Amino acid sequence: MQLFIDSADIDKIKEAYSWGIIDGVTTNPSHVAKTGRKHLEVYKEICDIVDGPISLETVSPNAKEMIEEGRQLAKIHQNVVVKVVNTKEGLKAVKALSEEGIRTNVTVTFSPLQALLAAKCGATYISPFIGRLDAVGHIGMDCVRQIREIYDNYGYETQILSAAVRHPLHVLEAALAGSDCCTLGYDVLEQLYHHPLTDIAIDIFNKDWAKVPKA
Ligand code: E4P
Repeated sequence: MQLFIDSADIDKIKEAYSWGIIDGVTTNPSHVAKTGRKHLEVYKEICDIVDGPISLETVSPNAKEMIEEGRQLAKIHQNVVVKVVNTKEGLKAVKALSEEGIRTNVTVTFSPLQALLAAKCGATYISPFIGRLDAVGHIGMDCVRQIREIYDNYGYETQILSAAVRHPLHVLEAALAGSDCCTLGYDVLEQLYHHPLTDIAIDIFNKDWAKVPKA
């Protein structure tokens, strides 16, 4: 399963990429706003750091403008994937962009039927927002499982990119459900490395090694 970092924070992207586990980046308007910087500057820097799919989100209100915005974003770098919201206008834009060979990531997806429509329009990635579904009392991972089943039933090549991931258990469940990719914030990426039994085992080994006579 591919792991993406969900952020527009240059320092965090740089640091996480140095760990060797990051395959790409997803950004959104909220992440960019947090940087306090001009979006194009941030986008170019991300493209210079990470060699992998980098999702940059369109913010236009209708298909015509989304298509033009998507074309401009795609010109920034060959790794750019144009992120488009899962609405009728958004999916019209996805259809047009995919016909032009521009890769798309259909975001703010909350149901398997929305994912079916996106696949029919040629989406490269579909982003179900797991944590936000959990937050309103739905089992977010059921959405991933059902999308997997639908895509496998009909041979859709759209990749499932589990998003709005809140903790390591979401990552585990996404991997078990056959999600192609998972995008995580820096803090959840950090959490993946930690296991208390690993720390205890290392501590015991270190203590025992200290008892071994040195030459
Ligand atoms: C994914 O591409 C989104 O940027 C992200 O996962 C949004 O989720 P959140 O804002 O609920 O964390």
